[in-house]
Amino acid sequence: MKDTAPQTIYLKDYTPFGFDVESVHLTFDLSPNATRVMSRIAFAPNPEATDHRFYLHGKKLTLIKAAINGEPVRPEVTDEGLTCPVPDGSFIWECEVEIDPEGNTALEGLYMSNGMYCTQCEAEGFRKITYYPDRPDVMSVFTVEIKGPHPVLLSNGNPQVQGQGHAIWHDPWPKPAYLFALVAGELVAHSDSFTTCSGKAVDLNLYVRPGDEGKCAFGMEALKKSMQWDEEVYGREYDLDVFNIVAVDDFNMGAMENKGLNVFNSSAVLASPETATDGNFERIEAIIAHEYFHNWTGNRITCRDWFQLCLKEGLTVYRDSQFTSDLRSAAVKRISDVIDLRARQFPEDQGPLAHPVRPESFQEINNFYTATVYEKGAEVIGMLKRLVGDADYARALDLYFARHDGQACTIEDWLQVFEDVTDRDLAQFKRWYSQAGTPRLAVRDEWKDGTYTLHFSQSLPASAASPDPQPQVIPISVGLLDPNGDEVLPTRMLEMTEATQSFAFEGLAARPVPSILRGFSAPVVLDRDVGTAERAFLLAHDTDPFNRWEAGRALARETLMAMATTGAPAGADYLDGMLAVLRDADLDPAYRALMLGQPSQSELAAALAEAGTTPDPDAIWQASETLALAMAQHAQDVLPRILAECRVDGPYRPDPDQTSKRALGGRALSLVTRLDGGTQAAAQYAAADNMTLQLSALGCLLAAGKGSAEVAAFYDQWQDDRLVIDKWFGMQIAQAVPDKAATIVAALTEHADFNWKNPNRFRATLGALTMNHAGFHAADGSGYRLLADWLIRLDPVNPQTTARMCSAFQTWRRYDSDRQSKIGTELERIASTAGLSPDTTEMITRIRG
Ligand code: PHE
Ligand code: ZN
Repeated sequence: MKDTAPQTIYLKDYTPFGFDVESVHLTFDLSPNATRVMSRIAFAPNPEATDHRFYLHGKKLTLIKAAINGEPVRPEVTDEGLTCPVPDGSFIWECEVEIDPEGNTALEGLYMSNGMYCTQCEAEGFRKITYYPDRPDVMSVFTVEIKGPHPVLLSNGNPQVQGQGHAIWHDPWPKPAYLFALVAGELVAHSDSFTTCSGKAVDLNLYVRPGDEGKCAFGMEALKKSMQWDEEVYGREYDLDVFNIVAVDDFNMGAMENKGLNVFNSSAVLASPETATDGNFERIEAIIAHEYFHNWTGNRITCRDWFQLCLKEGLTVYRDSQFTSDLRSAAVKRISDVIDLRARQFPEDQGPLAHPVRPESFQEINNFYTATVYEKGAEVIGMLKRLVGDADYARALDLYFARHDGQACTIEDWLQVFEDVTDRDLAQFKRWYSQAGTPRLAVRDEWKDGTYTLHFSQSLPASAASPDPQPQVIPISVGLLDPNGDEVLPTRMLEMTEATQSFAFEGLAARPVPSILRGFSAPVVLDRDVGTAERAFLLAHDTDPFNRWEAGRALARETLMAMATTGAPAGADYLDGMLAVLRDADLDPAYRALMLGQPSQSELAAALAEAGTTPDPDAIWQASETLALAMAQHAQDVLPRILAECRVDGPYRPDPDQTSKRALGGRALSLVTRLDGGTQAAAQYAAADNMTLQLSALGCLLAAGKGSAEVAAFYDQWQDDRLVIDKWFGMQIAQAVPDKAATIVAALTEHADFNWKNPNRFRATLGALTMNHAGFHAADGSGYRLLADWLIRLDPVNPQTTARMCSAFQTWRRYDSDRQSKIGTELERIASTAGLSPDTTEMITRIRG
C-alpha cells in the first residue's frame, strides 16, 4: 500500500524554486484515453535560490520518455513527481507523457465534458498534464500546439496557426502553470469585439456547445462592460488580441481566469430570459467581471505561493463588488454581500474550520478556496480603503500595478504600497490577515451635559488558529440622529485601535440615537443592548440604507428567537415597521424586497447558540413559517397594490429596474400565497414568459404544499435544458417540509436525470438538502445519513466537490447532544472509509476538531 499520510505545508517554509523557466513549448496530441503531451522547457539556474535540486511535480502521468539537451534520461519517478541529475547552467528538458482525459472524473487537469476537452489547473492541476514546477512563483512564456480532430482548438494568448486539426497559440505574458488552459471540441462562437482605451481592437468570443448560442448575449455584454469599467476605474487595459470564454457543463467551481481563455461553469455564463432568473443574470454579470478583473489582479500580478491566495481573490472580489455597485444599486449590493458573509463566512470563522484570511498551513490547498479567503479577504480591502480614503487607495493601486507587474507577490508587498503612499504603519492592520475569527465589538453609550460618548470594546475569541489574539484596527462608521430622525452628525469614521476605546461627541442639544457600523464598515459582530423601540426608530429613520435594513433584520431576528424559544407571538414593532417599509413607494423595490426577507434559519440557529440556547431546528422552522403568515396577514391590504406596482410591461430585461420590481413582486407573491393557498401563484405560473416569474411561482406553490401538476409540467417543458433541470431538482428540495426533505432527496437521486458525477446536479440535489436547515437537521438523522452516503460515494470520483460539501457539518457543535451524536457517527463513518481522499480527510479531521 502506498503511503497517503497527508502532508502539512507551512508558509514559513517557503523557498524559491532552484530554476527559472525561460520558455515552455507544449504539444498536445488529443485522444480521449491516451492523450500525448510533449513538453520542451528551457531551464536556467535561479540566482535567487539556494536549493538547486531539480524536482518537477507530476501526478497520474505515464512517462513515455525524457531527455536533457537531447540526451535521453531516466528520471526517478514517484506518485508526486520526478527528480533527475541535471547539468550546471541552462538546459533543455524534453519529455513525453500520456494521460487519460476521459478517465479524469476529478475535473482537475485535462478532462472531458460532454465530448469536449477542457482543463482546470488552479491550484495544482497542471501537474496532472505534464511534469513541471507547478507553483505560482514559477512564471514563463508558453507556446502551445494542439493536434486533434476538432473544429475549435484553443489555448492561452494569441493564435498563431489555426488550421483543420491543428492550432498553435502563443502567450507573450509570463504566467504560472495554474493559468494554463486548453479547450478542444465542437463548439460555436458568439463573437464581438472591444476597442481598448489606446485604440487596440480585441476579438471577443464566447464558445458554447451547439444549441446554446441563444444564451450568450448577456454574458458578452457583461464582458464589454467589465473591460470598460476596469479602464475607467482602475486604469487597466486588456493586453492580448483575443479574449475567449468557454462554457463547460462539468466544472467544480464557478469559473476560472486562465490567461486569455476563461473557462466557465455553464451555469455562470449561459442565460436567456426563458431559462435564467434575474438572480442568475446578476450572478453571471458579477462572475464575468470577476474573472476578467483577474487579468490584472491575479494574472499580471500573481501570488508567490498559495498562502497568498487572498492577494488575488480578496482584491478581485472587492473589485467585482465595486463593479456591481456601480452598475446596479450600491445599497442592495452591500446588503446582499453582508447577508452572504454572515451566512457563509461567519460560521466558518466561528467554527472548527476557522483560518486566517492568509492561512499559515494547509494539507490540501483546494480546501482553502473559502468564504474567509474570498469574502473576508474582500472585506479587509474595503476596510483598508475606508482607512486610507479613496484618493490614497487609488494611488496605492497605481503603485501596486506599476511596481509589481509581472511578479508573484505576497500580502507584505500589497501592504507595502499602502504604507509607501500614506506613510501609515499597517503592522496592526496586518492582523486582519493573520488572526482567525470574527471580532466582537461591544458598545455602551453615555449621555452627560451635552456630550454623548460611545464606549467600545473589542474581543476576538481565542481559537486553535489564533491562540493569543491581539486588538485589530476597526473602522467604525457612525452617524447620530436626533429624535426627529434628522442627522445631527453625518457619517464619520472612528478608527478603533485599542482593546477598549471611547469616542465623545460634544455640544449636542439632546441625547442622540446612534447609528453604528454604517455600511457594515468592518466584518465584526456588533453587541449592543438595544430596545425594540430604538430598532423600530432606526428602521423608520436611519439615513444609512445599510443600517436601516440592519435595524429591521435585528427586529426580525429577535422576534423569531423569542417565537422559537418561548412561543411568543410575532412582534408588533417588526410587523408595523415592515408594513411601513413595504408601503413606502419611494424606496427601491429591491431594497424593500431585502427588508422583507427573513434571517435564514441557520442564522437563527447561530444566534440562539450564541445566546446560550440550544437551537431546535423544528421550532425555528415553525417560527419562520408563523412569522411569514403573520406578516402576510398584517400586510393583507397592501399586497394587491404591491403586486400591481411590481408588474412589468414590455419585453423582459434583466436590468436593475425590472429586476428590482420582480424581486419585490416575488416576496409579495409568497406572502399572498399564504393567504390564498396558491391561486395567484398558479396564475402567475401559467402566464409566465420568463424563468424568474415561472420559478418564483413554482416555489410559492411548493411552499404551500401544492404544485405537483406544475412540477410535472416544468419537467416536461425543460427536460432538455440541463441548467433548468438543476433548478427543478433544487426547488423541490428547497421547498420540502422538514420531515419529508430527506425522502424527497432520496427519491430524486433515483431519477434518471440525477447524474451525480456532474457537480452542478450534485449540488442542486445534495447541496440543496444541506441548505434546507430543518430538513437537513431532521431529528431522526435521515438528512445526515443521506448526505454522508453520497459524500462517500462521490469522494473517489471527485474529491474536490466532496470536500467542499463536508462543510455542511461544520456547525454541528451548535446542536443538541442527540443530533451531535448522529452527526458524529456520520463523520466517523466518512473518516473511516477506505481510500478516502486527502481532500475529504483534511476537512473531516478539522470538522471533528
Ligand atoms: N480562481 C477562480 C476564481 O476565483 C476559482 C477557482 C479556483 C476555480 C480553483 C477553479 C479551481 O475566479
Ligand atoms: Zn477569483
